[in-house]
Amino acid sequence: AKTDDDSIRMVLIGPPGAGKGTQAPNLKEKFCACHLATGDMLRSQVTKQTALGIEAKKIMDQGGLISDEIMVNMIKSELSDNPDCKKGFILDGFPRTIPQAEKLDEMLKEKSIPLQKAVELKIDDELLVARITGRLVHPSSGRSYHKLFNPPKKEMTDDLTGEPLVQRSDDNADALKKRLVTYHNQTEPIVAYYQKTGIWSGIDASQSPSNVWSQILKCLGQ
Ligand code: AP5
Repeated sequence: AKTDDDSIRMVLIGPPGAGKGTQAPNLKEKFCACHLATGDMLRSQVTKQTALGIEAKKIMDQGGLISDEIMVNMIKSELSDNPDCKKGFILDGFPRTIPQAEKLDEMLKEKSIPLQKAVELKIDDELLVARITGRLVHPSSGRSYHKLFNPPKKEMTDDLTGEPLVQRSDDNADALKKRLVTYHNQTEPIVAYYQKTGIWSGIDASQSPSNVWSQILKCLGQ
């Protein structure tokens, strides 16, 4: 059985297509922790056509960011109410700005469960176009595939549920350009933030998914 001591509390940082959503399920399984992907949470609001979802879709399709306040509250309620998070958590897509990183630290300090690791998936922008434009996703689980690099067993079908795969509305070359600008301007500064606190590790994310996974395990001391 897992004890508090071997639980994991980490963030995955990286530009769109770096492999956060590909690697996070491996971490979730290995550490029995919860995987909180803010992009997936927002897309589920879009599907349900909530007021937040309708507003968020416009921003996401333009490659912008949803407000810090909304995102911080979203993570706060998951960390407090989701019983799976007691065993640890992998944050994927959050924090995405310095204020989000600061609020997260405050929130975890109050609970006396500080972050243990911030892993950055490092990759050049040029490699991301092919990854993003070929991506296929299973909306309800967030599982992602790639037409060429990681094809599903059956065309356009999720391996586990047999449900259809879709392409995200922000996965086109134009939106990607904007998402990359947003990443470099607003999210990349959190790398220096975590370097200062000493919990940062960087990994070359241009390697194969299995090599990236080994590197992640290595920097987690596994
Ligand atoms: P989000 O859903 O978080 O999107 P993102 O950060 O742009 O990241 P992606 O999901 O595109 O990339 P990924 O790294 O998960 O790549 P994947 O593993 O699938 O956010 C979407 C939007 O929501 C944001 O733009 C923003 O508007 C909003 N938002 C979310 N969080 C927010 C926040 N905190 N604050 C404000 N706004 C927020 O891999 C990509 C493809 O490559 C796949 O097809 C995969 O199969 C393939 N692949 C993966 N690894 C490899 C490899 N090693 N080699 C070859 N192919 C690979």
